[in-house]
Amino acid sequence: MRILSGIQPTSKVHLGNYIGAISLWEEELKKHENATGIFFIADYHAITVPHDPKQLKEAIYFILATYLAAGFNPKKHIIFVQSHNPDHTEAAWIIQTQTPIGWLERMTQYKDKRKKLKNEGKSIPTGLLTYPALMAADILLYDTDIVPVGEDQRQHLEYTREIAQRINNTYGNVFKLPTAQIRKFGAKIMDLSNPTKKMSKSASSYKGVIFVTDSNDKIYQKFKRAVTDNINKVQYNPQEQPGISNLIVILSLVTNKPIENIVDEYSHYNYAKFKEIVAQAVISYIEPLRAKIQEYLAHKDMLETSMKEGVTKAREISTPKLTILKRKLGYMTI
Ligand code: ADP
Ligand code: TRP
Repeated sequence: MRILSGIQPTSKVHLGNYIGAISLWEEELKKHENATGIFFIADYHAITVPHDPKQLKEAIYFILATYLAAGFNPKKHIIFVQSHNPDHTEAAWIIQTQTPIGWLERMTQYKDKRKKLKNEGKSIPTGLLTYPALMAADILLYDTDIVPVGEDQRQHLEYTREIAQRINNTYGNVFKLPTAQIRKFGAKIMDLSNPTKKMSKSASSYKGVIFVTDSNDKIYQKFKRAVTDNINKVQYNPQEQPGISNLIVILSLVTNKPIENIVDEYSHYNYAKFKEIVAQAVISYIEPLRAKIQEYLAHKDMLETSMKEGVTKAREISTPKLTILKRKLGYMTI
């Protein structure tokens, strides 16, 4: 059983990434004791929008340090950097050629990011369109069973299954069909200052984005200024009270308590007091993690050893799979 996922090194990790993705990876590994976790840093995905070469390396170290700080053991699991394994881009080329272009053009993430770039007067990189083919390669090369991700990746996972099926139907069985694992609550943490928008690294302002590197004081301030409503009752009602409902979900996940219990406990609190409770809980959740990340970042040689060992183990799985794919398509493999 293999559980696989990745994060793009586009900037620091935020609470949405942590709750929606990384903490879900931990839960999935706990559920499936004998499973191997394959967690990578999707650095080729990170250049599908304009990027700063000076920051890429630091962002890669940071994500790797976050994986280790989260407790994924690199001896037991496989942790590596996507660009260190050329099998991904090679398989992505083949997968692209098998993908009808309309399948990619209708992707919501593509349409959103395209619109944003257009509004900024920037050109649209072709890689932004073909991005899901690389993601499908990431997943399919490892005969992955489960892919734990946030809600925004659901459509990419559906595409991955469709393209795997199409290739299997055309050339004979090559790929295993993966299953997406998405949280019922917490798969889409909202921006605190704009609770109808997803918390994201690409937000235009970071007023409502909690980064795992934020100081306690900053976290506290961001929660204090979180946008709420005039209803003045702590209850779970995402349509009419998106801000408060988002805070309830966050508190539920960082304290590991069901939503109903949170609502029972805090329904009589005023918003200011409730925000304080949530801020404190998030600080207690992030503080140890932040310290461990800093510790790992102080040992870059160790991070480098771990990424080298990781990619060797990754290639033991991906290279034979790529060979099978190429043979099925009629290539000579030597
Ligand atoms: P971002 O969208 O902030 O650039 P990524 O695209 O690198 O983040 O996402 C990494 C993982 O975190 C993915 O599994 C994604 O679905 C998840 N994720 C991102 N934002 C959120 C969020 N606001 N709430 C829950 N999960 C999220
Ligand atoms: N596209 C994902 C994101 O933006 C990151 C990613 C790349 C990924 N390849 C993947 C996630 C494979 C899961 C599986 O969040």
